[in-house]
Amino acid sequence: MFGSIKKFFDNKRITPLLYIDIHSHLIPNIDDGVKSFDESIKILKTLESIGYKKVITTPHVIGDCYNNSTKKLLDMLYLLRQKAKENGIDIELDISAEYYCDEEFVDRLKSNDLLPILGRYILFETSYVSLTPYLLDIVYQIKLNGYIPLLAHPERYNYISDFAIYSKWREAGIKFQVNILSFDGYYGIYSKKRVEFLAKSGFIDVIGSDIHSYSDATRIQELFKKGLYEYIFKDNTIINSSN
Ligand SMILES: [Fe+2]
Repeated sequence: MFGSIKKFFDNKRITPLLYIDIHSHLIPNIDDGVKSFDESIKILKTLESIGYKKVITTPHVIGDCYNNSTKKLLDMLYLLRQKAKENGIDIELDISAEYYCDEEFVDRLKSNDLLPILGRYILFETSYVSLTPYLLDIVYQIKLNGYIPLLAHPERYNYISDFAIYSKWREAGIKFQVNILSFDGYYGIYSKKRVEFLAKSGFIDVIGSDIHSYSDATRIQELFKKGLYEYIFKDNTIINSSN
């Protein structure tokens, strides 16, 4: 019996609160994510070994460079599921998108041509360098469509130096998805400071992997071994798996 308990601690796995990952780029060659299905499979095997039960992958939708249609995304999900099945991967797979705040997104909102996460969340991102002036109009439209706006990695926007903007966004009804690797300083010291502020403030709703490559998956595996993420749960209500 002692042996099995020791084995559990030696192979530290994720808490059930994180069984569902809802941000990643696992469809090859349709954005800046993985380069092949072989890479997708290696990543999924790593996630399975950490303890993930479900992965909702979220390719970029950006009008100028990654104009992935809803149909294309659903077709690619079918292929990913096939490859996963062929490789004996025991993770449920689904697809959504990470919508960039541009005219393409506004058009898709108007026609309700969207792929919500778990039927309710719309994952969206902004420019990294400057505040999107019509951001709150987009948020309003997402809510009007019956969905919950979920901002991808708010800690990564380099234009944020006054953290009061986070309170303003939350008052507007925006939920926050932070990247787990931000806690490790992977995106730099300023993203780390912002994510620590969000954690302390109780502003984190979702923790995502935002995996773009196999090396991201191995970094996350190491992070879980260190237990770096565990303090987050004290002050934040994480909703990854609460649906
Ligand atoms: Fe992403």
